Amino acid sequence: MSSTTVAHLHAREILDSRGNPTVEVELTDSKGQVFLAAVPSGASTGDMEACELRDGDKSRYGGKGVLAAVANVTDKILPAIKGMTTEDIASIDHTMLELDGTKFKTNLGANAILGVSMAVCRAGAASCGEPLYQHINHLAGSPTMIMPVPCFNVINGGVHAGNFLAPQEFFLIPLGAPTFREALRMGAETYHVLKSLIAKKYGIESTAVGDEGGFAPNISTVEEAMDLLVEAIDIAGYTGHIYVGSDPAASEWYNKETDSYNFDFKRPLDQQDPSKVMKKEEVVKFWEEIKNKYPLKLLEDPFQDLDFEGHALMTAAIGEDIEIVGDDLYCTNVEFVRKGVDLQATNAMLLKVNQIGTITESLKAFKMCQDNQWGVFVSHRSGETTDDFIADLTVGLGTGHLKTGAPCRGERLAKYNELLRIEERTGLGYAGYEFRNSGHF
Ligand code: PGA
Ligand code: ZN
Repeated sequence: MSSTTVAHLHAREILDSRGNPTVEVELTDSKGQVFLAAVPSGASTGDMEACELRDGDKSRYGGKGVLAAVANVTDKILPAIKGMTTEDIASIDHTMLELDGTKFKTNLGANAILGVSMAVCRAGAASCGEPLYQHINHLAGSPTMIMPVPCFNVINGGVHAGNFLAPQEFFLIPLGAPTFREALRMGAETYHVLKSLIAKKYGIESTAVGDEGGFAPNISTVEEAMDLLVEAIDIAGYTGHIYVGSDPAASEWYNKETDSYNFDFKRPLDQQDPSKVMKKEEVVKFWEEIKNKYPLKLLEDPFQDLDFEGHALMTAAIGEDIEIVGDDLYCTNVEFVRKGVDLQATNAMLLKVNQIGTITESLKAFKMCQDNQWGVFVSHRSGETTDDFIADLTVGLGTGHLKTGAPCRGERLAKYNELLRIEERTGLGYAGYEFRNSGHF
């Protein structure tokens, strides 16, 4: 049976989970089947991310409109890829890259390009007569598929929350679950215990949720966040089964002039504690002490996004016990990952498809990690839609873990619930304690 081809593209401006515009692409194939894809959007973005094209017209959505990106899909991308084979996403992505012709996709916008790339991936799966995760698995050279460990971001700080906590994310990591379904249950139960604990200690007004569904209680230190997590895990009955992790997203609170990190950056200047300003070596020591005191298993972006050297210090110090993940450091870009591998900067990469802008390039970055025995941590963005593409992506690549927020808010649950369905349909095993063996189960 011959492959379907791209017959038509339509795009529209929809809203993401923060109420900001984003791009949705609607692809019609040569059989008349329609495939949708919606693009996510970050807040703590890396300096080297592909361009998210925004209109800048202050009279619409405060300048955040995406009408130009939408028009690029129909006016520029469609004529270039019309009639191309949906199963050959590599050629379609390549054609879009050529058409754009810039390093960071500033011409067409990575939001336009990615929407098309995701929709093509879905159309290609249908053309092959296989589920999306299976299709992605084939495109990636058939790594062993496995159900991922869901890393639930349940305490929010940094630029995602209105408290004085500098690190952006604190995860519950249910390594000791037998299946994904049980991991989700354990995470949700602990999340509810955490809510009660926070209400008791900080008042009910502290149980409002942040962008990714986590709580943002009135706390300001890593130890307070860790203590809360550990207590909630204990009360829920999962000590020894649920571990913890953090994404400080340290770029957001790095001071270039003094080459230091201010763990108190969110407090008004005159109230900041000077002992909370740390040099690189002190930051390494800080997290090493946290690791010795708490059941820490994963640390993402502990340094700013150009500091390969700092990350390498951290990896050398605690990388054996802890997965050190580069997010803003790599921006899912194979060039930066190669540099990270050479410098042994981290031992894992965060995979966010909209940081780079095509599925093909995302797979290249994945492959670079797989070839070097690195972990790959699939991720949502803080601004999301109900598109569940990354559920299939994490299973298809066998990454062994993903983060897509707390077990709360529809746009986060869209991914976790799709993973429940995939597990039910495939009977795939759960990565659990092996979560770092991305692509090698
Ligand atoms: P972002 O946050 O989507 O706002 O970039 C997620 C992260 O930093 O991992
Ligand atoms: Zn991050």
